[in-house]
This record gives sequence, structure tokens and C-alpha cells, in this order.
Amino acid sequence: MGLPSDVQREANDIPWFHSIDLGDGVVTPGASGPQLPEDLFPPMEGKSVLDIGAWDGYYSFMAERNGAARVVALDHYAWGVDIAARGAYWTECAAAGTLPDQSRDLTDFWRPELPGRRGFEFAAGVLGSAVEPVLADFATADLSEVGTFDVVLYLGVLYHMKEPLTCLERLRSVTDEVAVIETQAVHLQHLENDSILQFYAGGELNHDYGNWYVPTLTGLHALCRAAGFSSVTTVQGPPPPPVPEPESLRTRIGRRVGRIDRRDHLSAPSSFYRAVVHAHV
Ligand SMILES: C[S@@+](CC[C@H](N)C(=O)[O-])C[C@H]1O[C@@H](n2cnc3c(N)ncnc32)[C@H](O)[C@@H]1O
Repeated sequence: MGLPSDVQREANDIPWFHSIDLGDGVVTPGASGPQLPEDLFPPMEGKSVLDIGAWDGYYSFMAERNGAARVVALDHYAWGVDIAARGAYWTECAAAGTLPDQSRDLTDFWRPELPGRRGFEFAAGVLGSAVEPVLADFATADLSEVGTFDVVLYLGVLYHMKEPLTCLERLRSVTDEVAVIETQAVHLQHLENDSILQFYAGGELNHDYGNWYVPTLTGLHALCRAAGFSSVTTVQGPPPPPVPEPESLRTRIGRRVGRIDRRDHLSAPSSFYRAVVHAHV
């Protein structure tokens, strides 16, 4: 590789999802927000790690940097779909009030030269990485060819799945120790103990027609257990409830006569957030 300024210039010509520190002050200009902090992950040293939905490979390279013995970066859509052409089609659909034909991802929007993998390949080259890329649709791939791994990362993928339970069963079957699942989740005020999956069909969620199901935290735990994981630990949950203000005399009287529900003080307002759980085998 050339001078850092040349490497940065080359990196700037690639569309990036992840901001990856390539050393010597070179950072890829990623479109995604900040990545998850390392302390939300289990120890990776000496482990085999599978990163499903790796895209530019931020978490694959993180696992390698933290001493993983082997890392496989698996992806499909972000590597092969012509995102710009599909985006234009989705804009047409939104204007016409129709739902897109999702099968076009694998027909007229599919680019066999994998333009979306350029970022991963560039970063791997600069870092001198041994992360192994695998092109596969995890929802349908032959899992005996994927193999099993101590730690499996499933970050930002679940809500893109049309069949979330089946996909978590498939995740369980490639996991030997622990899967780290990060997903869009919803906190519903006063329903925090309810197992709920919200369904989006019309691109209402972030204008992305590829977003389908959003669980409550209880729903996410239930899905993982139903998929065969033996226990689930929350490492990033919903926003905390607001600190209760000292009750006025009026509120105290209202509560005593049953007009004010105590729960109003204990549950945060409904909101979306990103949940992270460790699902143990
Ligand atoms: C929101 S991005 C998350 C990228 C990265 N894991 C992160 O958390 O920053 C979702 C990724 O999952 C990939 N993906 C979605 N469905 C997939 C599937 N069925 N098989 C493999 N990858 C998939 C997409 O191509 C994309 O790279």
C-alpha cells in the first residue's frame, strides 16, 4: 500500500457502510452510525467467529484484532445488490404506493462482480487480514457448508428476515457457544413484559422495504429460546424509566382514588432502540 494520504484517497472512492480505522490515521468514511462498543461482546481470543451480515467487515476485523483464531465474514445482499438501482426502484414504488417485488434483488439488481464487497476487500488488504469472505444467503444456504463457530455475530440482520424464528434456528445450528444478536427493537410503554413482534410491510420502518419484524425485548428472548438457545442475556436493553419526580399531594390523592396509575411513573415512553443479547447454546 502507498502513503496514508493515497490510501485515504482510494478509500474515499468506495461507498462504505462502516467507518473502519485502517491505521496511520486512515479511516473509511462509513454511512452507518457509531459501532457497538467492544465491551458488549464476549471474549474472542482463540475462538472461531462467524460474522453474518458482515458488509464492510468492521466486526470481523474487530474479532481478528481481538485474537480470534479464525474469522469468517458472510454476506449476500450488501455485497451483490446494486443498491443505487434498487433505491431508485423503491423510490418509484413509494411514489406509486405499491410494494416492491423483492425477487428483483436476485435478478435485475444482482451484480455478480459484487461491487458492494469492494470495501471489505480494500480494508482486508490494508489491514493484512486473514478474515475469510463467504458469499451466501444465510436464510437459505446449506449450513453444513458454513460449519459451526464458537461465537456467531448476528448484528443488524434479524429485522431483515422474513422468517425470524426459522433464521434464529439456523443461527442456533451454527453456534457452538454464544451468538451475539443486535437488532432494532421496540419498547412499548406498559407492555415491557409482553412478547410482541411488530410487522412492517410497506417500508414504514426507516423507508426500508427490507425491514420486516421488530421485537420487544421479551419477544426477542422468547424467539431465541424457541430457536433452541438455552439462555439469553440482555447486554443492551431499552431506555431506562424516567426518574420519578416527588409526588405532589394532588398525584398522591389521585393515585389513592384510582384516577392515576402508578405505572405512569415507572415505564419510559414507547420508542425504538437497538437491543443486544447474548444467546447461549
Ligand atoms: C444493517 S446491515 C448490518 C451490517 C453489520 N452487521 C453491522 O451491524 O454493522 C445488514 C447486513 O446483513 C446482510 N444480510 C441481510 N440478509 C442477509 C442474508 N439473508 N444473508 C446474509 N447476509 C444478509 C446485509 O447484506 C447487510 O450487510
